[in-house]
Amino acid sequence: MTTGHVFIAVSLDGYIARPDGSLDWLTGAPDGPSAPEGEDFGYAAFIERMDGLVMGRGTFDVVAGFDPWPYAIPVVVLSSSMQNDDVPEALRDKVRVKQGAPREVMDALGREGWTRAYIDGGKVIQSFLREGLIEDMVISRLPVLIGSGLPLFGAVDGDVRLEHEATRTYPGGMVQSRYGVG
Ligand SMILES: NC(=O)c1ccc[n+]([C@@H]2O[C@H](COP(=O)([O-])OP(=O)(O)OC[C@H]3O[C@@H](n4cnc5c(N)ncnc54)[C@H](OP(=O)(O)O)[C@@H]3O)[C@@H](O)[C@H]2O)c1
Repeated sequence: MTTGHVFIAVSLDGYIARPDGSLDWLTGAPDGPSAPEGEDFGYAAFIERMDGLVMGRGTFDVVAGFDPWPYAIPVVVLSSSMQNDDVPEALRDKVRVKQGAPREVMDALGREGWTRAYIDGGKVIQSFLREGLIEDMVISRLPVLIGSGLPLFGAVDGDVRLEHEATRTYPGGMVQSRYGVG
């Protein structure tokens, strides 16, 4: 069985992007928090353990524009509206589109040999959490309120109990917490 793992940044008021999807508050803002030289907040160590990345179409729409392509692991885009032919040609050996309920997708990836999947995108994370497919989450909270945007979390069928495992603070005020999902 493939387990799901989250590594994501949020504004202090709980958004992963502005309403239009922009991430300027997170990266590249002249007055944004700056990472000390060589500091990646544990991202490289996290992604090294992953067999691949499952992201929603909303996230793909944004990262497809990144140059260079930021991922060395295989990427699966979940979408009912996209086909493999919609993936830009330059990315076709790195990205494929899949449809299906979260559990079916994880079962299929498990049959391909994936043991750990990085799960990304607000709606996709929410749907995988509801299905009990997320094992742990590393959430980095930035000290900024953006007022509106795309939320990390949403409705749940019942309380989801989390086990706090660790919290680190970084220069600039980012607070990173790791939770196990019970
Ligand atoms: N702050 C961060 O660290 C961070 C990290 C990742 C993403 N982001 C930002 O978050 C934004 C995208 O997040 P989002 O919540 O809007 O969208 P998302 O979760 O990336 O994508 C949602 C879309 O994926 C498709 N989908 C297919 N199967 C699904 C399933 N089982 N559950 C949910 N969706 C499924 C649907 O599109 P179809 O209609 O095509 O089926 C759905 O509209 C982008 O702006 C991105 O830049 C920020």
